[in-house]
Amino acid sequence: MSDHALLQSARAQLASARSIAVLTGAGISADSGVPTFRGADGLWRNYRAEDLATPEAFERDPRLVWEWYSWRREILATKTPNAAHDALVRMEACTEDFRLITQNVDGLHRLAGSQRLSELHGDIWKVRCTSCRLVIDNRDVPLSLLPHCHTCGGLLRPHIVWFGEALDQQILTDSIRAVESCDVMVIVGTSGLVYPAAMLMPAAKANGAFVIEINLDPTPYSSDVALSLQGRAKDLVPLLL
Ligand code: OAD
Repeated sequence: MSDHALLQSARAQLASARSIAVLTGAGISADSGVPTFRGADGLWRNYRAEDLATPEAFERDPRLVWEWYSWRREILATKTPNAAHDALVRMEACTEDFRLITQNVDGLHRLAGSQRLSELHGDIWKVRCTSCRLVIDNRDVPLSLLPHCHTCGGLLRPHIVWFGEALDQQILTDSIRAVESCDVMVIVGTSGLVYPAAMLMPAAKANGAFVIEINLDPTPYSSDVALSLQGRAKDLVPLLL
């Protein structure tokens, strides 16, 4: 099929869908200038996850971990949603049953206006107390003293799911329910390598969903989905509407 025919087919499926689930990854924010994880300049090409994104790393050296997240926050503070984030807000508005599941922690979907949103891997703009587990919005992290909980005094950590940690059970359950009941699933800008997020596509497919992938490059999903569209998220996602 030509690119035009593929797009037409994707649009027709979406137009007749009552229920849509969308899964996004770092590739959707790449068009806003946010670094991905596994691409040529990806974060995991230049930094070791085990030094920065594990509970053991935080226990060993909380300052180093906080410095890394503060650096990422500084980058993100200058970024804004792009046309792909905006298009998903419009898709939500015109779909009866809609769920946007993201692996991104950058907050750009929320900033764009998405509401029926499940943030699988947490939110970089939130912190959590390592003692009382209180979760709070906190944009201002004092690195010199390290941030502490105003309720119990415990050390605060980024509200991110690190390697080796479990996802929030309710968020995962809601996400599985959404993909299992959707007519169409759209996957945008993820390498499909990180579990349990990576199991959402097979779950949707097993339940009869029509799965559309948008990615700059082929992924492990590409040969398994109903439609694989290759290109930039900011160009292709708006064309789905
Ligand atoms: P990756 O960096 O693994 O993959 C990004 C994907 O986006 C790749 O498949 C790229 O080909 C694609 N891509 C890049 N630019 C694009 C563009 N402009 N338009 C469309 N696609 C583009 O990122 P994720 O799959 O999101 O975990 O990674 C999953 C998780 O691994 C992340 O959530 C993160 C990381 O460790 C946490 O932060 C907890």
